[in-house]
Amino acid sequence: MKYHLTTLGCQMNVHDSEKIAGILEALGYRRAESEDDADLILFNTCSVRENPERKVLGRLSALRTRKRANPGLIVGVCGCMVQVPAHRSRLEEDYPQVDLVFGTHNLHELPAYLERVRQGERVIEVWDEGREPVEGVPVRRTDPFHAWVDITYGCDNACAYCIVPTTRGRCRSRQPERIVAEVERVVGEGVREVTLLGQNVNAYGKDLEGAPDFAGLLWRINEVEGLWRIRFTTSHPKDVSDRLIDALAEAEKVCEHLHLPLQSGSTAVLRRMNRGYSAEDYLRLVDRLRDRVPEIALTTDLIVGFPGETEEEFRETLEVVGSVKFDAAFTFVYSPRPGTPAAALPGQVGAEAKRDRIARLIALQEQCSAERNRQLAGRRVEVLVEGASKTDPARLAGRTRTNKLVHFPGPPELAGTLVQVQVDETHPWTLYGRLIGQERSDGD
Ligand code: SAH
Ligand code: SF4
Ligand code: F3S
Repeated sequence: MKYHLTTLGCQMNVHDSEKIAGILEALGYRRAESEDDADLILFNTCSVRENPERKVLGRLSALRTRKRANPGLIVGVCGCMVQVPAHRSRLEEDYPQVDLVFGTHNLHELPAYLERVRQGERVIEVWDEGREPVEGVPVRRTDPFHAWVDITYGCDNACAYCIVPTTRGRCRSRQPERIVAEVERVVGEGVREVTLLGQNVNAYGKDLEGAPDFAGLLWRINEVEGLWRIRFTTSHPKDVSDRLIDALAEAEKVCEHLHLPLQSGSTAVLRRMNRGYSAEDYLRLVDRLRDRVPEIALTTDLIVGFPGETEEEFRETLEVVGSVKFDAAFTFVYSPRPGTPAAALPGQVGAEAKRDRIARLIALQEQCSAERNRQLAGRRVEVLVEGASKTDPARLAGRTRTNKLVHFPGPPELAGTLVQVQVDETHPWTLYGRLIGQERSDGD
């Protein structure tokens, strides 16, 4: 039996898909090269904007005829979309080609669901809330040297535009011992870098006994022998503590990179978004971070066209972006999510203004990224080699501690090692350089 799994959305979904693949492979399924070759076709969906939703519905419609011709084929949908009741009923009623629907809180039940589908049942099982964080789900990692590690599930914030609290539920933290044990285990399997995952990692531990905090967790993971690098995402600006900044500055394995979503540079818009900080608060935080960790790379998320956003308010975003000079930014056009408070706000911004604003924002950010990267020209950087570059197999690709992609000529055996690279050429999204020396290999 072969499976084909399509993943949309963020790193949480990417990691959930590694779990789904792990479960399926433990059941004896193998990965299919293409959808045409598969006995089980699954879509791990995202609801954060309308586009990824439309994509999945389109792909499902296209499967209708194939399913009719081959009733033994199993088609399944999981992930964030099915946590939205309106989508769930639509799938149930209008997409008879779908045999299996399961949500973000119950993916560990997949073996039982598949068994029921094989018996001829149509299974639609979605839990509204996760109970305890589920442990011990097998994971099929896609990268030999890097692992995603969940630290919290869900989110207790209420940003006015965001569907994630609906799809992922309340914030639940894993026990620190479980997290550390998982990091030790993957390091034993050859992993050198971990990325800790949570919708707001700074909320880590608030729901646990003794309220261990995120900075404390970083220090504990910093002790894991054989691990070289620690990353994490995402940090909410309102919850960045001095202890976190200290860990960024002092814990040797914690990389000098912070993804700190700004969303808007207008305090009025931030208030309507219910973000809990002003543009000035954000700028002060950036100063504090750069004071303590001068080499830190800052990346962000930005939304244009939030309801009521005026040209003036949008320009405030351009101003903040121009003055912070982020290393990189993910830029999004606001997409109304049914059921969220922002979708009901007056003053929805027209498509043309949104298009115009996102184009101006992207152009500015490209200049900022180019400028930040130019500062690295002629410098030596430490790179964890991932393997052959996807765009040019003659070169290797890897990342700096500040999460910048670097391409350089070198032998494939260097994959999984730490090397020194001299940066010769910089582009907005990539650095090019040459190998200077090896720093650390397996077992060092
Ligand atoms: N928990 C993370 C990310 C959540 S979703 C955080 O708080 O940072 C990732 C990004 O998608 C958000 O940061 C936001 O910029 C964007 N986003 C969320 N909802 C959106 C919407 N309705 N329209 C457009 N972009 C959205
Ligand atoms: Fe959504 Fe805000 Fe939670 Fe992030 S912090 S997941 S943007 S509600
Ligand atoms: Fe992620 Fe999309 Fe869900 S961004 S949490 S997969 S709605």
